[in-house]
Amino acid sequence: MNPKKPLQLAYGMAVVLLLVGVLSYTAFSAKAPDEPVRLMFQCSTGKVLFDHKTHTAESGYGIACTDCHHHPENAEDRTSCRSCHDVPKDGSAPAACLNCHDAGDFEVESIVKKTDAIHQQCIGCHKEKGSGPEECKLCHVNYNF
Ligand code: HEC
Ligand code: HEC
Ligand code: HEC
Ligand code: HEC
Ligand code: HEC
Repeated sequence: MNPKKPLQLAYGMAVVLLLVGVLSYTAFSAKAPDEPVRLMFQCSTGKVLFDHKTHTAESGYGIACTDCHHHPENAEDRTSCRSCHDVPKDGSAPAACLNCHDAGDFEVESIVKKTDAIHQQCIGCHKEKGSGPEECKLCHVNYNF
């Protein structure tokens, strides 16, 4: 066997692996879109469709991310409403608060539960702007109230 062969093979493999690496990097490192287009809430009162993109797009209702994802003010890592608005039964601080705060920093009673938080925010803004659904049936379209 030609003693140079294994070396050539090794170089060849190295080049192939490098190419695979570069291709995978460019193919998979592309940042995933970090804004959902539409969200479907599943609840005991049927499904509720929320057109996330239309609420934020300039060509839609042009609402700023932080108007809804409101805490902290300069939110870069958005977390679900539930992560903060899941008041435990014993009234202790939601675990997510303690990622950034000490337990004694605030009154836990002031945190509204997730469904109430969502209702207050969605309906509150629709009222304030005088447009967007306020009646139950207009959001919970397939439920008989
Ligand atoms: C602007 C749209 C909107 C309006 C108007 C609205 N809701 Fe909702 N509602 C939602 C969304 C979104 C959720 C899901 C929240 C969640 O995941 O906890 C929800 C959740 C609920 C739930 C919780 C169901 C569960 O699985 O725990 C009930 C009950 C409910 N709504 C009843 C009502 C009633 C009664 C009204 C009228 C007084 C109303 N909603 C008006 C959007 C709306
Ligand atoms: C009109 C209110 C509203 C606006 C404006 C808004 N969002 Fe959201 N967004 C929501 C709600 C409600 C959810 C669902 C959260 C949940 O299920 O707990 C959500 C979910 C998300 C999620 C999915 C992960 C998660 O937190 O559940 C991401 C990511 C997100 N939004 C990013 C953005 C970005 C980026 C912007 C600005 C371009 C933005 N949002 C503007 C209301 C809004
Ligand atoms: C990182 C934690 C955090 C997240 C995530 C969060 N909230 Fe809150 N929310 C708070 C805190 C803290 C308060 C009470 C103090 C305040 O108003 O800022 C609050 C208060 C509220 C209130 C009551 C405001 C008032 O005037 O009484 C509503 C409504 C609300 N949140 C809706 C939402 C909705 C809807 C989402 C998801 C889109 C969400 N929050 C996500 C921390 C959070
Ligand atoms: C991702 C980090 C983060 C999380 C999670 C978080 N906070 Fe905060 N919080 C902040 C920052 C930063 C401030 C300073 C003001 C600001 O940017 O909103 C603040 C300010 C506050 C304040 C004083 C100012 C105000 O808005 O009234 C209270 C009270 C508070 N947070 C309560 C809470 C509670 C309760 C939770 C959980 C439900 C929570 N925070 C979750 C980062 C966080
Ligand atoms: C900060 C303001 C704001 C918040 C928060 C908000 N909306 Fe809206 N929403 C609007 C505006 C403005 C319209 C446009 C109404 C029109 O032009 O007819 C609208 C329209 C809608 C419509 C009817 C048209 C469409 O786009 O489907 C639905 C359904 C709706 N909103 C659901 C929700 C739900 C569910 C939430 C909470 C998860 C929510 N909205 C939170 C401002 C808001």
